[in-house]
Amino acid sequence: MATFDLANYTESRKAFIDNQLECILPPGGTEPRAVSAAMRHGTLSGGKRLRPMMSLIVAEVGGFAHETVAEAACAVELVHAASLILDDLPSMDNARLRRGQPCTHVLYGESTAILAAMDLIAVAYRLVAENAERNECPAAPVIAQLSHAIGHEGIVRGQHEDLALTGKRASLEQLTDIYAHKAAALFLAAVRIPARILAMDVRTISALERYAENLGLAFQITDDLLDAGHAPEDVGRSTFVTLLGKTGAERKARELVEEATDALDILGSEAMVLKALAEYVGTRKQ
Ligand code: IPE
Ligand code: IPE
Ligand code: MG
Repeated sequence: MATFDLANYTESRKAFIDNQLECILPPGGTEPRAVSAAMRHGTLSGGKRLRPMMSLIVAEVGGFAHETVAEAACAVELVHAASLILDDLPSMDNARLRRGQPCTHVLYGESTAILAAMDLIAVAYRLVAENAERNECPAAPVIAQLSHAIGHEGIVRGQHEDLALTGKRASLEQLTDIYAHKAAALFLAAVRIPARILAMDVRTISALERYAENLGLAFQITDDLLDAGHAPEDVGRSTFVTLLGKTGAERKARELVEEATDALDILGSEAMVLKALAEYVGTRKQ
């Protein structure tokens, strides 16, 4: 592990995903032009590609080429991009900047941003179905997993509860529930969908699920740590930092990362990259 160069490993996977996304998105100039441009801006203007990277690594853990789950990986990233476009809207977090650039609604207007998010989600469903079919896997169960991550059992629920608590003090339990839905649900989909498409065994899938759930929570807590004092839209909002303090939030993130890596012990050395990715999440600076 000490000699493993994660940055080098992830660079080529990130380039692969960026290239796939470029091909999947409607080319600039496609009608309706403003919507296509907003989809491209919301997806291609930066982004670490952490979730799709996890999907590719899951394939590799199972001994498959990462190309086998390319569409599913991109589908997860498109859902993530859509969720960020919506999260930034004036009626939600009312943000102006995302990834150091103007938010999609700032550049293209609110209605176009909403339509772009809808379109990204529509494309994501198509991609997951196509990826399943290509691997001769029934499409319905994986489509259901994507739906679970997006809807009232996933991001929609987490975001709704998050907004409902704005300006109020949330309990640690409430905040954990919000983060599990608004963030960890998509991490879960990022491992579940490729694992299912590649017909991995139940034991491996449940280890990956435990990994993703814990890492998703840890990721959102590290987001609190990075945003603390910097995100104007977070004023008056409970976070792990406001509830536990910086040191407490750091400790919680570390515990969750440990829980995530422990879950992978049954998988042996193949899980090394996923473990390294978890360590990165625990100590990330962006
Ligand atoms: C931002 O996610 C939103 C959260 C869930 C905290 P990322 O930090 O993964 O965003 P990008 O895609 O890399 O910009
Ligand atoms: C981002 O959440 C949206 C989702 C997780 C769906 P946050 O509001 O906590 O993250 P940033 O700070 O805008 O990236
Ligand atoms: Mg936000």
